[in-house]
Amino acid sequence: MPRRIAIIPGDGIGIDVTTEATKVLQTLIKARNLPLELVTFDWGAEKYLRDGVSLPKDAFEMFRREFHAIFIGALGDPRVPDMKHAADILLGTRFGLDLYVNQRPVRLLDAKLCPLKNRTEKDVNFIVFRENTEGLYVGMGGNFKRGTPDEIAVQEDVNTRKGVERILVYAFEYARSHGLKKLCMSDKSNALPFGHGLWQRTFADVRERYPEIESWHLYVDALTMQMVKNPAQFEVVVTCNMFGDIVSDLGAQLQGGLGLAASANLNPGHVSMFEPVHGSAPKYAGKNIANPMAAILTVGMMLDDLGFPEEAAKIESAVAGAIHQDKTTRDLGGPLGTREVGDWICAHL
Ligand code: NAD
Ligand code: IPM
Ligand code: MN
Repeated sequence: MPRRIAIIPGDGIGIDVTTEATKVLQTLIKARNLPLELVTFDWGAEKYLRDGVSLPKDAFEMFRREFHAIFIGALGDPRVPDMKHAADILLGTRFGLDLYVNQRPVRLLDAKLCPLKNRTEKDVNFIVFRENTEGLYVGMGGNFKRGTPDEIAVQEDVNTRKGVERILVYAFEYARSHGLKKLCMSDKSNALPFGHGLWQRTFADVRERYPEIESWHLYVDALTMQMVKNPAQFEVVVTCNMFGDIVSDLGAQLQGGLGLAASANLNPGHVSMFEPVHGSAPKYAGKNIANPMAAILTVGMMLDDLGFPEEAAKIESAVAGAIHQDKTTRDLGGPLGTREVGDWICAHL
């Protein structure tokens, strides 16, 4: 039985980069006879504006029953200012499928892309593990006296012992199984003693189980400073949902920009979701400008997760080859368009 992958191109450049990511997948499926079947869904702003449906009611049930992986391009459209469809599809999938691990590698593939002076590939190579189902993202809160001068807005930060422990354990286990020796946990427990005090206490317990891993803590403001000052010190970084979002865009720029940052949203042993870190960049949509490499590297993460590590490695080396030879889009200083980069990578797989 072929394994099924749901493809949701979404909005804006999500559509452009998913076209190239799909081309790469199809190239590998054909060349290496991979038992994978792709099914595309047109969920996104267009459909939401047309018939009011962001995603069908039975979507998560269908994913669990019929799919092994989900690939999402990007969601977000200026015509839907409240982001309702994006919240339903993107955050909905993370929460609905309990994808508690958001794995976001930060890896410099070519020294020339690093905005820091005198850094090489070995200086920027770590993984951010972002808690993906709790924190400020749970959507608890409300507005009181909305629209009046007395308005009150409350947005709750939800942290559970179970939620914090499972992401910390995943990050430590990842380090252990990949021969990594250093792990940094980041929070803001000095200012948020209740929510992030729980992170501190859980971290103190969990790290005892991994004595061979050097683990330490940084407040998130200090973490961002250290990521710029000395990124080479990091191998694994683990943090909450909100800080993981911010830190992963900073990490993206250390490797050359959002056009290169890939991610996996995982619930080990269950259907998982894969997406580039970047958004729908509406001003570049449909213009053959967007860098498809983040989406293509994301396909690599997906294939790795599906049990095809050789193909994943081939994708990474084809992307690195394109960068070395300046077969890139203009965000990386190259002369090519989205499609031409996709074609080059397919030809070199
Ligand atoms: P964005 O990531 O879409 O774009 C920010 C800037 O980064 C762009 O203007 C562009 O200069 C650069 N960029 C991003 N991806 C690029 C690529 N592939 N190639 C070249 N340059 C690229 O972030 P934003 O402008 O803050 O958000 C736009 C919309 O996307 C919003 O609606 C936002 O909510 C949404 N968004 C969605 C996701 C997602 O679906 N995972 C992630 C982030 C933002
Ligand atoms: C990301 C994005 C999303 C997030 C937005 C679109 C809700 O920025 O995947 O990094 O904040 O998680
Ligand atoms: Mn983000």
